[in-house]
Amino acid sequence: MADSNIENSSKREFLQFSGKAGLSTMVATAAGVNLGLVDLVHAQPGKKVTPFRFAVISDSHLYSFKDHKFDTQLMDAIEQVNNLPVKPDFVLYGGDIAQDGTMDQLEKGKKILSNIKSKMVIIPGEHDWYVDMGTGWNGLYGANNPESGQRKGRKEYWSFDHKGVHFVGLNNILVDDFWTAQKMTGVERQTHMSMLEGPWGGLWGIHAEQLAWLKKDLAKQSTDTPIVLFSHAPLWDYYPRWGFGTSDGAEIRAMLARFENTFSFHGHVHQTIYNKIGNMSSVGAMSTSWPWPYPDVELAFPQSRQYRADPGNEADGMGSYYADITPAGINVQHQPFADSLTPWMKNGFKA
Ligand SMILES: [Fe+2]
Ligand SMILES: [Fe+2]
Repeated sequence: MADSNIENSSKREFLQFSGKAGLSTMVATAAGVNLGLVDLVHAQPGKKVTPFRFAVISDSHLYSFKDHKFDTQLMDAIEQVNNLPVKPDFVLYGGDIAQDGTMDQLEKGKKILSNIKSKMVIIPGEHDWYVDMGTGWNGLYGANNPESGQRKGRKEYWSFDHKGVHFVGLNNILVDDFWTAQKMTGVERQTHMSMLEGPWGGLWGIHAEQLAWLKKDLAKQSTDTPIVLFSHAPLWDYYPRWGFGTSDGAEIRAMLARFENTFSFHGHVHQTIYNKIGNMSSVGAMSTSWPWPYPDVELAFPQSRQYRADPGNEADGMGSYYADITPAGINVQHQPFADSLTPWMKNGFKA
């Protein structure tokens, strides 16, 4: 009985906090503040958490050309996170390090990413995977990830605990085999999967093996442990036509339903986007390569979007972000390379 009282009271506090934060978001939007730069994630991670910071870099889409501008832009993002006044405990790379999934591009990415001065964890994007179904990617990057030695050959999804938070990395860009019947080569398969509206793959997901693993992994966690998931594509149906979603997102969210606080951080959309579905708050990352336009989708929850990137400024609308996790909330600070409308706010750590 005592336990259930504690649980009820903590859920009440969470709801109150959500209400206040939602209101302040709407007021700030009305005042014309560019909330794309600072997203307060509307939830309270709980008293178990020791404050810390992590950073996210995503979607570099490196080409095989020597000294391509996307190489420099990835390095710019690495400089941003290396120069943070408070060092992140780790940096997540959110997928799509390569444009065409070839070994030279994956290797170039590994070399550039080695300049990150914090520990790095990484998940794949669809541009990294389909030439050889992840063999090259796992060979190069799998060893960066927790549990890499424990599940031989399957190193792209993982979990670890850090300062009171349970982190999970997923590979959610898996589709059913459409290539064998069509006798496609690996390069043809990758070319198809790199299309924004490819007709054959359908919406990708994490599929049966990872669903079973995730169920087992989450079963060990108590309901008051904050759960943070990293995936390449959003875990909610944002705009499935462009692959902005996960086919088994609803099953994943059902597994998360018993937890008080769950957060999802994703790449792939190349824009700042915030949403909340059930108990899962979700934040999307700017890319380091190019900004996608916003699809014409209304979101149910009060939303914060960056203003359109300035087409006259080629560094606009791209960058990295960091998140400060404290018992009072998660603060996500987007760091655009350039922003013609709102200056980059160099915030200190507000624990
Ligand atoms: Fe991407
Ligand atoms: Fe992607």
